[in-house]
Amino acid sequence: MDSARLDANVFKAILDALDEGIHVVDETGRTMFYNRSAARMEELDASEVIDRHVLEVFPSLTPATSTLLKVVRSGKPIINQQQTYTSFKGRTVTTVNSTLPLLVGGRVVGAVEVSRDITLLRKMSEMIVDLRAELLGKNSAGDGSPGPRLFTFDDFVGEDPRVLALKAKAGKAARTSSSVLVSGETGTGKELLVQAIHSASRRRGGPFIAQNCAAVPETLLEGILFGTARGGFTGAKDRPGLFELADKGTLYLDEINSMPVDLQAKLLRAIQDKTIRRIGDTVERRIDVRIIASTSIDPAEALAKRELRADLYYRLNVVHLAIPPLRDRRRDIPPLVGYFIGKFNRELGLCVERASPDAMGRLVSYHWPGNVRELEHAIEGAMNLVEGNVIEVWHLPASLLGSDGRRPASDVGGEDGTRKAAAQGLPFALKQSVADHERNLLVTALESTGGNVSRAARLLGIPRQTLQYRLKRLGIATHRTGDRN
Ligand SMILES: Nc1ncnc2c1ncn2[C@@H]1O[C@H](COP(=O)(O)OP(=O)(O)OP(=O)(O)O)[C@@H](O)[C@H]1O
Ligand SMILES: [Mg+2]
Repeated sequence: MDSARLDANVFKAILDALDEGIHVVDETGRTMFYNRSAARMEELDASEVIDRHVLEVFPSLTPATSTLLKVVRSGKPIINQQQTYTSFKGRTVTTVNSTLPLLVGGRVVGAVEVSRDITLLRKMSEMIVDLRAELLGKNSAGDGSPGPRLFTFDDFVGEDPRVLALKAKAGKAARTSSSVLVSGETGTGKELLVQAIHSASRRRGGPFIAQNCAAVPETLLEGILFGTARGGFTGAKDRPGLFELADKGTLYLDEINSMPVDLQAKLLRAIQDKTIRRIGDTVERRIDVRIIASTSIDPAEALAKRELRADLYYRLNVVHLAIPPLRDRRRDIPPLVGYFIGKFNRELGLCVERASPDAMGRLVSYHWPGNVRELEHAIEGAMNLVEGNVIEVWHLPASLLGSDGRRPASDVGGEDGTRKAAAQGLPFALKQSVADHERNLLVTALESTGGNVSRAARLLGIPRQTLQYRLKRLGIATHRTGDRN
């Protein structure tokens, strides 16, 4: 069996099956291999390319602009370079290319270029930038359409001393244009705080633009932020990026540690020089943008994991605002609950007054992995279930209640969250809270048995006499089992 020839054919079939375009030239710049995907991207036939010199096939290229020829000359790879060109049939194509030298015995015998077609992705990112530009244009045109209302410091609810200190620090930072780094777990209010800083700053009349660096493919982020210029030969329009759109305003870069580190270097230069350069462009543009970045992990950890460049970190960290997780500032929970009840009363047209002490106990003692956002959703969910004007335990999401479910009757006894919370010292009168808790339990048990004391006692797992005694002491009349609020 001619295994050498078989290998070559199999090898070619494999390369043709790849999504990536592969283009190989020898040391003179003559094409030796050109796979099917490369032909598809460039809308050429392999036969038009093979055995011909690249400059002959691509007349718009020069020895200085052809990456293949550059790599053959220098012997150094060019990694992840974005390129936009017009194909022979007039289609605008954007690719990300990596070009590597082919070395045999230490000598450069050619180069291979691997290309990924990101035209569609690129179109999507351009649409995103266009839509934002349109939105901003409308809002600043004074055509009567109000822009999205941005949060202010008043919207940041909290009484914990650390939160008060944080707000004070953020308020001071609002007077300058220094870079700011905000950190806090998911849902702790990073974007709220960043918007508040913008709203309190002299830039409040300018745009506020937020971009999550983890939300778009890495290869597109650079174009989205810095904009793009097409090669002079295409005649296509250049495009601004978010930096230019945010001129005189604030650019919020969320999950900054998801930004590729070489782009982080470019960001650092933009912050330091106050200029940017669109991809593929030669001109520097002055920009006046305040950068606020955030991470949902501890920045020191991002630094240690090399997700965040040290030089950028020190630049951003001029002002660091760390928002503590909700479970570390439980005294903020009751005011937040009140705030969200008010908010959803307005939105849902309800007139809920409060959470019952028992429900509040659960809310205060829960560990809130999703922080304030999770609390907000819990209250919204409860308000969709509530019948009267008080949020009860069984209106709360199951995740909060643990394994004991949401039925009122099963809400009995045991070392539940409320008791643990009570032991931790709650921000409301403990004695009153325990009495309220007990009253709620008893009333709930009676309600669910239709006022039958014996069955309620069995449900609660206590003797009937004990229940009767407690009902009397708490002034609960057994013939009245309705809502006592
Ligand atoms: N202290 C607060 N007072 C009032 N509302 C708050 C507070 N903190 C957060 N919220 C609300 O909680 C929700 C989540 O806040 P935000 O989007 O700012 O969090 P985030 O830290 O940016 O979250 P993520 O990391 O998931 O993007 C928002 O609806 C916000 O208005
Ligand atoms: Mg956010």
